This record gives sequence, structure tokens and C-alpha cells, in this order.
Amino acid sequence: MIKLPERPSHLREDYHLLSISDYSPEALHTLLSAAALLKRQPSQVAQLACGKTLAMIFEKPSLRTRVTFEVAMVHMGGHAIYLQPSDIGLGKREPVKDVARNLSRWCQAIMARTFSHQSILELAEYATIPVINGLSDREHPCQALADFLTFSEHKASLAGRKLAYVGDGNNVANSLMLLAAKLGVHFSIACPAGFAPMAEIIEEARAVGADTGAVIEVTADPVAAVTRADAVYTDVWTSMGQEEEAAERKRLFPPYQLNAALLKHAKRDAIVMHCLPAHRGEEITEDVLEGPQSAVLDQAENRLHAQKAVLAIAFGWTPPTR
Ligand code: CP
Ligand code: NVA
Repeated sequence: MIKLPERPSHLREDYHLLSISDYSPEALHTLLSAAALLKRQPSQVAQLACGKTLAMIFEKPSLRTRVTFEVAMVHMGGHAIYLQPSDIGLGKREPVKDVARNLSRWCQAIMARTFSHQSILELAEYATIPVINGLSDREHPCQALADFLTFSEHKASLAGRKLAYVGDGNNVANSLMLLAAKLGVHFSIACPAGFAPMAEIIEEARAVGADTGAVIEVTADPVAAVTRADAVYTDVWTSMGQEEEAAERKRLFPPYQLNAALLKHAKRDAIVMHCLPAHRGEEITEDVLEGPQSAVLDQAENRLHAQKAVLAIAFGWTPPTR
């Protein structure tokens, strides 16, 4: 179980953000409080990354992840290098372990968006600098942190709240389910048969929920999932790397569309969440995405603050404990 650093250190070789699974509930609460603090008081870490460079490896496209990590580094006086797929050919032009060990000699942290979660794990195994998962086929932990920061801003206290998710049980759903469980937030996900989150993640979330009080539900019924929810979340039906399944997914997923009729089953003041990019008319309708309950731009903004907290800790900043 990864713990947050207890005392300042220049660089922590053992500090990574690979999966929500690796963090204790206490560490996650501290991370979220740290993100909220840095949102209010960015000057706390204004010079922290002076002279430091973040290497950003991307095997897939990105708007939010790329820009927010780069902006976070600039705000802290540091620098980020964008490495697109054709630049390094992770695992093709050279092995993942060579990329990890080379970058460790020049840079102070790595953020990677990969197809395979195994590549993230391998980077962390061989790097001697912190590695941050910027999305893999298994998880999107930075997104989940920003999302729960957003949820807490809209709902004051998260205890006993319900987050509903409709659609594909994908990387985003996996991280949300794990983080909900760790924070004691009820999580209900509705997906077509065969598209639920990974069984091991459901099992882990339920085991954690037994301690924190979070109820984790997996159903095929979108109305059941959304009923009395405080937040309703959806994501694309076809994630990056699954393009060959797009036609079949478009056939199966329409009953899981987040539209006004489905949203009516949630609490009247429920917020609407989406990690973006959104496919209007597929997983979410234009009126709901752009409607008064939508928090999607707050989520996007909070990527910056959540990741700044992760980076600041990686660079030796000690966040106040709760
Ligand atoms: N939500 C998210 O990760 O967006 P990008 O794919 O644009 O980075
Ligand atoms: N599930 C989506 C998230 C994009 C931010 C994907 O992996 O493509």
C-alpha cells in the first residue's frame, strides 16, 4: 500500500500514481484535500518544480491530460516534454524498461498514457523517478481524483452520497468505483451484459466498501443505478483502442444513454458528470451535457488542481494531513 510521504524529500523513488488500488483511504483523503488547497492557494507550490522536467509519454490522443499536466508544471516553475507515439515508439522502437531508465537520468517524473496497463507497471518498475498513470486500459486515476474533487465541491460532504455510472465499465469506471469505495461513497453502475468493470476490481471495491460503508452495485438496469443518485456519470461507449468494436457497441449501448428521461430518476439536484471528450447523441444528449446540472467543465478544470497535488507531492511537498 503506497503511503503519502511523511516528511519532505527531494525525490521519492517509491512514489507513483499507478492505480487507485495502491492508496489507502487516508492517503486519498489527504490528496483530495491537498488538491482543494492548491486550487485556493496555488502560490504554496509556485517554485516547487523549478528546474524540474516532467516527461509525458502519450500512446493515444489527449487534450485535457496533456494540457493540465503541462500547465501544472509551468505553474510550479517547471517544464514538461510532450512525447507523442511516433517520438519514442514505447515498446517498439525500444523496450519500456529502456525508456524508463533513460528518462530517469534526465527528468524528475514521468506521466504516461498507454494502451496496456502493463506498460505503466513496467515504467514504474524500472524508473527511478515517480510514474503517474495518465490513462491505461485498466484505469484513469487522475480523472477519478479530479472527479471526486468536483463532486465534493458541489455536495459539501461526500459521506453517504451516491454516484451512478451508466454505460461502459471501462478504465474511467474502474477508477471511479475504486475511489468511491475508498471514500465511502455508494457507487452503482449499469452496463450491458459483458461490459461490466473487471471482476477483480468489483471484488476489491466491495471488500473496501465493507470497511468504509460504501455499497457497490453492478446492474444491467440504468434506472435502478440512477435512482436517488447525487451524481450521474457517463463516458464514451468506445474507448481509445477499441475502435474496431464501435459498430457493435453502438448497437448495444443506446438503452444506457444519459438523457433527460434517465436523469429524472436521480435526485433533483444531482450533478451530471463526464470525463470528456463526449459523443453527443451517443452516451449523452446535448441538452444534458450542456444543461444546468452539468459539472463537466468543473471536472476538466479540476484535472489541473488534482494533478498539481500529485506532482507537488512527487517533488517533495508535504500536504497538510486532514
Ligand atoms: N478526460 C481526459 O482524459 O481527456 P483527454 O483524453 O483529452 O486527456
Ligand atoms: N474511456 C475513455 C476515456 C477518455 C478520456 C478512453 O479510454 O478512451
